Amino acid sequence: MAIQANSVQEMYRQMQAKLADVVPDVELQIKAELAYEINRLKVEKNAVILGHNYMEPALFHSIPDFVGDSLALSRKAAQTDQDIIVFCGVEFMAETAKILNPTKTVLLPAAKAGCSLAASITAEDVRRLKAQYPGVPVVTYVNTYADVKAETDICCTSGNAVAVVNSLPGDTVIFLPDEYLAKNVARETGKRIIIPSRSATLTLEEGPEKPQMIGWHGRCEVHERFTVADIQNVRAQFPDVAILAHPECSPEVVEAADFAGSTQAMIHFVEQADASRYLLLTECAMGDNIAAANPQKEMLRLCSVRCPHMNQITLEQTLDALRYNQYEITVPEETRLRAARAVERMIAIG
Ligand code: 13P
Ligand code: SF4
Repeated sequence: MAIQANSVQEMYRQMQAKLADVVPDVELQIKAELAYEINRLKVEKNAVILGHNYMEPALFHSIPDFVGDSLALSRKAAQTDQDIIVFCGVEFMAETAKILNPTKTVLLPAAKAGCSLAASITAEDVRRLKAQYPGVPVVTYVNTYADVKAETDICCTSGNAVAVVNSLPGDTVIFLPDEYLAKNVARETGKRIIIPSRSATLTLEEGPEKPQMIGWHGRCEVHERFTVADIQNVRAQFPDVAILAHPECSPEVVEAADFAGSTQAMIHFVEQADASRYLLLTECAMGDNIAAANPQKEMLRLCSVRCPHMNQITLEQTLDALRYNQYEITVPEETRLRAARAVERMIAIG
């Protein structure tokens, strides 16, 4: 949550108290100046800053008014009264904020902070699948762009995917675009996952005893890199470790971990559990953010995978976003209205 400080020195002292173990002091001094100026400008411009859990520690712990996972931040974006929403996250998240709160100016501090999942599927791909499987409800992960959301019945995040799929009538669901999340949700909901090849049409098996989920080929370029061997190696060295995985990891990794959930669910797990030490199989910055907020917990620092898209959002970029009103997110109104229906249905489920 944003630090309240009356001077740069006070900002530096508060950041140092929290971040001394995770950010080098020489960096902290520079970052404190940036954070102080951002928080001053934020008030002057009547802006709110939303920060995803993957933001780098100095940013995460100093400027966001709200932090959280995709679902929590979508809810905050929908409720905010401020004139400007600065979204410290990636483009699909800022776009979701614009979809839900179209009269506000929504700024993404980097010109193009993408996501390999969002890039994996187009609106035309969804239209083609709907033509192949008429009448089958379409669920899309929020990690997609507005034109893809506009083609779908309901969105989901990693925090509510099982509840969203369970809310749909019938035995068959199209679940896009994350192959691994789809497989993990299929296991939890008792459905069978089918990934059609890009060219061939699949014949669905008939009958209520054959609940099915039709997926896509998208993968998170960060989470697909974790392996069961990583888990085995860490357990061999630290038998008492609690291992947490994001459900964008492969089903084998999720099964070998002790817990799987959204970024917020992982934070909650560490706060509540009493394991001797923890390992997060997710984007690197989050381990540092948890370590800074929970100094009494031992986090294994074996992480080497930083999301290149999240990494583009820095304090420097965020200051420029506020100074120069950049980079403004726009969504054509016709697309926005259809996408909003899918996102709002998701929010209504929880
Ligand atoms: P969460 O919704 O769990 O925060 O995940 C977003 C994301 O991009 C994970 O890679
Ligand atoms: Fe996309 Fe993966 Fe980065 Fe999340 S971590 S924003 S899913 S590329």
